[in-house]
Amino acid sequence: MSHLIPLSRVAKLVGQPRHALQEMIRGGALATFDGMVELDELLRAFPDVKWDDDAEFRRVAEIKEKAFAKRVFERALPDKAVLAARLTELGDDYAAAKALLLHYGNVLVWLDEKIEEIDEDASAETHHALHAVRAFLLRNLAEMPVDAAQAQAAIAQERILKIMSAHVTIQPSGHEFFVEGNDTLLEAALRNGVSLNYGCSNGNCGECRARVVSGEVKKVHAHDYVLKEGDKEAGVILLCAYAPVNDVVIEANVAGARDIPVQHLTAKVKSVEVFNPHMAALHIQTPRSQRLRYLGGQSIELSVDGARGRYAIASCPCEDRHIEVQIPRRAGDAFAEAVFSTLKANDSVEVEGPFGEFVLDEDSPRPVIFLAFGAGFAPIKSLVQHAMSLELVESMDLHWLDYETGLYQDNLCRAWADALDNFTYVPHPQSDDLDGVLAAIVMDYPDLHRFDVYAAGTAAQLAQARAHFVRQGLPAVRWFEGATDA
Ligand code: FES
Repeated sequence: MSHLIPLSRVAKLVGQPRHALQEMIRGGALATFDGMVELDELLRAFPDVKWDDDAEFRRVAEIKEKAFAKRVFERALPDKAVLAARLTELGDDYAAAKALLLHYGNVLVWLDEKIEEIDEDASAETHHALHAVRAFLLRNLAEMPVDAAQAQAAIAQERILKIMSAHVTIQPSGHEFFVEGNDTLLEAALRNGVSLNYGCSNGNCGECRARVVSGEVKKVHAHDYVLKEGDKEAGVILLCAYAPVNDVVIEANVAGARDIPVQHLTAKVKSVEVFNPHMAALHIQTPRSQRLRYLGGQSIELSVDGARGRYAIASCPCEDRHIEVQIPRRAGDAFAEAVFSTLKANDSVEVEGPFGEFVLDEDSPRPVIFLAFGAGFAPIKSLVQHAMSLELVESMDLHWLDYETGLYQDNLCRAWADALDNFTYVPHPQSDDLDGVLAAIVMDYPDLHRFDVYAAGTAAQLAQARAHFVRQGLPAVRWFEGATDA
């Protein structure tokens, strides 16, 4: 009987990103069947994977070691009800496999008796044939297949993954992610950069209503919002109150930039990070009860003591309550001045937003070029991190052109390039010949028609860059821009 494993779980098992596996599938190096990989195929395609030295095993060992650190233990493990349901399911699988083995054993005994019965009146020729069949069966039953130990280790690992996490597919968008530890469906979606609809995140507003298409879920938090009987019968749940028991398909709306309402909240300053005299990052934390919904690439308005300004968010929506805003020091900007001189940890900052539609086209399977001019790196950083968390983008090239602010997070970009095999970083020193720099960049892309380009800088820089890219063959609709001086 074949053992099929979903592609997303295979990615976790072999420690490869999904896009790398998809490339293998396209190149014929890995065969799949309806998005599933057969166990034999997994062992054939990844002969070098050490199944007994996997990160997930190490994580489980770590949990055991930290068994006395109660908080770590509680967060890393699924909710008790979910864990019990997953173990019950695993027990059922084990019982079914054992029953099947007993049945096969009985069939073999019956076969042996049958051979003996036929053998009693058999001719010499039939006797030899029966003897050969019996010897063949005995030999094969006694011998373990060569890769049996590998198969056993791979299945054991897959079982651990299934107990520790569940796979979620969102319909109709097709987003996929894992729910790990004691996260709810909503928490896991946000952690993975999937912008599902929600409001209060604690079971009061009903805005996170969604329908379970397949799979099993469990309520892990009580909720005050009352679901109608008809809704319950149709499989409607609250994403902020439920966790998946096994792999589930959920029907839910993924929000676009226009679907997210402008929100007002008071956040606390965590820290101010001054990169150089022209550029700083303000790290703020939103209240536990009121997180900010936004998409990578959007902006927010910040105010303190009457000083107010709109700035690009530089963090990823997957970073939970942490928001990073990058702020250039410009003449007449009182809020920027406060960031550079007086704001400190624990100060309160008023937040309004998000604003803007400079966000990822999550439906596009194209490779991406990111183009940042100076402080335009802020929204680009947010987009890059959002794209990384979604794992949707085939490849990402980042070109950062030095302009006024310096390449103030150059090391971070180099670290991304070192860590990710589908990410390239090209820094460009300040130049008086912007046309020359842009012409050199586009020359490196003879197949520019295949790409999406996301660019952030001043309106003048963007107009100049857009002309180069479109002239070189980029379809105009695949150019996305965010002006830093709008
Ligand atoms: S977000 Fe309000 S009920 Fe779930």
